[in-house]
Amino acid sequence: MHGTTIQLIRGAPPSALLETIAELEVQSMQGEAALWGRAGLEATLAAPHAGAAILSVEDQAAAYCLFTMLAGECEILQIATAPGLQRRGIGRSLLQAVLAHAAKHGCERTLLEVRRGNLAARRLYESLGFSVDGVRRGYYRHGGDPPSTDHDALLMSCWLAAQIPPTRSAANTEDSEVSDGQTAQIARITYPVDCGTADRIR
Ligand SMILES: CC(C)(COP(=O)(O)OP(=O)(O)OC[C@H]1O[C@@H](n2cnc3c(N)ncnc32)[C@H](O)[C@@H]1OP(=O)(O)O)[C@@H](O)C(=O)NCCC(=O)NCCS
Repeated sequence: MHGTTIQLIRGAPPSALLETIAELEVQSMQGEAALWGRAGLEATLAAPHAGAAILSVEDQAAAYCLFTMLAGECEILQIATAPGLQRRGIGRSLLQAVLAHAAKHGCERTLLEVRRGNLAARRLYESLGFSVDGVRRGYYRHGGDPPSTDHDALLMSCWLAAQIPPTRSAANTEDSEVSDGQTAQIARITYPVDCGTADRIR
């Protein structure tokens, strides 16, 4: 997609980026999870092990991903694409960039939770090699919801390859990236992410 950039932010993001993420959250979550809201996002992203990635198309924010990186594990806290831009490969590109970033910074494994009934998200994760490790029954069920396995949380994970080379010359750009609240733009990256069998448990 032309004019696509991904910003990776580690540490507390500037206020304008917080607003951008909060707006995208409201647009895109549509009942899939409780909203974090600006204050929740600010508190979460203030942690030194937390990060955010924002994919923009022609300077318009289109998708975001929240994650943590700690003790060799990357946890995906949230990912969402603006409703009008879904099913164009944006979510996959963004997640691939986050996984590549995590692998580059020493993570070997990625974890997340997803509602069993959220088929779009499950397919996205499965397409990148995530598999189900466990279930939290009824985890997403609210008081008025009828009983349904759709509300179960599936615990998913994938193992990241130790070395993930970018497919184009974005490596130098990423080398200058992100720490302690600084941001860097990374132009049109396509990372081959091997979450599959090659580098599983060593
Ligand atoms: C899940 C979500 C982030 C996917 O973003 P996206 O930009 O539409 O995803 P992509 O276009 O990159 O799709 C990648 C793959 O995911 C799967 N997928 C995405 N949307 C799908 C849908 N509506 N139905 C079935 N599969 C879907 C497909 O396997 C797709 O690959 P394909 O198009 O080659 O078949 C998006 O649907 C979203 O924002 N949902 C609301 C927020 C949410 O539920 N987040 C996850 C919380 S755990």
